[in-house]
Amino acid sequence: MEVMSDRLRCAVLGATGLVGQRFCQLLSGHPMFEEPDLYGSERSENERLRDRLKLADRPVSGDLLEKEIKRLDTDVVIREHYDAVFSALPTEVAGQVESRLRNGGVTVFTNASPHRMDPDVPLVVPEVNPEHLRLASNRGSIIANGNCSTIGLVLTLAPLVRFGIERVSVVTMQALSGAGYPGVPSLDALSNIVPYIKNEEEKLRAEPRKMLGRLKSGAIEPWDVEVSPFCTRVPVREGHFEVVEVTFREEQDLPEIVSSMEGFRGLPQEKRLPTAPERPIIVRNEPDRPQPVLDVDAGSPDRARGMAVTVGRLSYGGRRLRYSLLVHNTIRGAAGAAVLLAETYFSGGF
Ligand SMILES: NC(=O)c1ccc[n+]([C@@H]2O[C@H](COP(=O)([O-])OP(=O)(O)OC[C@H]3O[C@@H](n4cnc5c(N)ncnc54)[C@H](OP(=O)(O)O)[C@@H]3O)[C@@H](O)[C@H]2O)c1
Repeated sequence: MEVMSDRLRCAVLGATGLVGQRFCQLLSGHPMFEEPDLYGSERSENERLRDRLKLADRPVSGDLLEKEIKRLDTDVVIREHYDAVFSALPTEVAGQVESRLRNGGVTVFTNASPHRMDPDVPLVVPEVNPEHLRLASNRGSIIANGNCSTIGLVLTLAPLVRFGIERVSVVTMQALSGAGYPGVPSLDALSNIVPYIKNEEEKLRAEPRKMLGRLKSGAIEPWDVEVSPFCTRVPVREGHFEVVEVTFREEQDLPEIVSSMEGFRGLPQEKRLPTAPERPIIVRNEPDRPQPVLDVDAGSPDRARGMAVTVGRLSYGGRRLRYSLLVHNTIRGAAGAAVLLAETYFSGGF
C-alpha cells in the first residue's frame, strides 16, 4: 500500500508499556496513520518516549521519540477527534476509560480484556472474522483484539473449522512479556514454570467461541465447540508457545489439513494491508521448530514481522490432530493485531 495523502490521526493510550511501545514502533512511518499522540498515567507526564523505551528491535522515528507523553484525560482525547485511539491500558483502568471514550464518539481499538465479551463489541482476528466489524458503530465504538494466546489459537483453528471440529484442548507456555512491564518478579520467573495465570484459561475458553461464531441478525451466534485450556508462564522473553490437540467429528487426511493451513489467507492479504503478513500461518516441517528464539519474528514483508503464527510437529491419528504453535504475544497477540484491525476497519469491504 502506498502512503495515503490524508493519513488518519491517532493516539496510543498506555504508550509507555510494553504493548504501547510496540504500537509506537508499528505506527512509526505507517502509510495509513500519522504518528500517534501519546498518553500515559501521571507517572509519565511530560516525559519523552525516548526516556521510557524498553524495546530496541524495531526503529521508531526521531519525531516520535521526542514526543511528550500526556497525562490521560478522556475529555481531552474526545475533544481531539482522533480517527483511531489504540488502547494498551491495564485491565483495571481500561474498562471505564474505553466506555467513556466510546460514549464520546471515539473509535477505540483495544488490547485490554474488559469489553471483549460485550455483545456490541466486535472481537476480531482480521483474517478470521472481519465481518464481525459490522457490529461497530461509526458514532463511537470499542473494537477488540483477543487475548494473546487466543489469537494464535484461533488463527490456526480457522482453516480447520470446515473439517468439522468436535473439541479443542490447548496447553500454553506463555512468555514473561505477556504480563507487561515489569511483569513477573524475577525470582518467580527464573529457572521456573509458573503453573497458573489468573483469568487466562477463562479467556481461552470463551473468546474462540465468539470469534469463530457467526454474525446473524446483528448478534454473534457462538461457535458450538468446547475449548479446554491449561495455561502456564515460562522464562521466555517473547513468544507464546502452545500445544494444541484438535479432535474432529470424522477421520481426516493430514496432507489436506496441512495444505489448508498453509494456504490460509484472509481479507487483509486480499487488500494487501501494510501490517498483513503474506502468509498468516507458516508450517515448519523440522521437528525442532517453532522455537521462540528462532521464529518469534516470523512474517513478511518487513512491516509484518512478528505477524505470522508458526506451526510445527503436525501429527494425526484417530480423529486427533496435534501441533505446536508460536505467536508473538506483543505483536500478533497485541499491538500488531490492533493495527491490522484498524487497517481492515478503515479500508472497508468486510
Ligand atoms: N503484554 C502482552 O503480551 C499483552 C498481550 C495482549 C494484551 N495485552 C493487554 O494490553 C494491555 C497493556 O499491556 P502491557 O503489557 O503493555 O502493560 P504494561 O507494560 O503494564 O503497560 C501499561 C501502560 O498503561 C499505562 N497506565 C497505567 N495506569 C494508567 C492510568 N491510570 N492512566 C493512564 N495510563 C495508565 C502505563 O503508563 P505509566 O508508564 O505512566 O504507568 C503503561 O503505559 C493490558 O490490558 C494487557 O492485558 C498485553
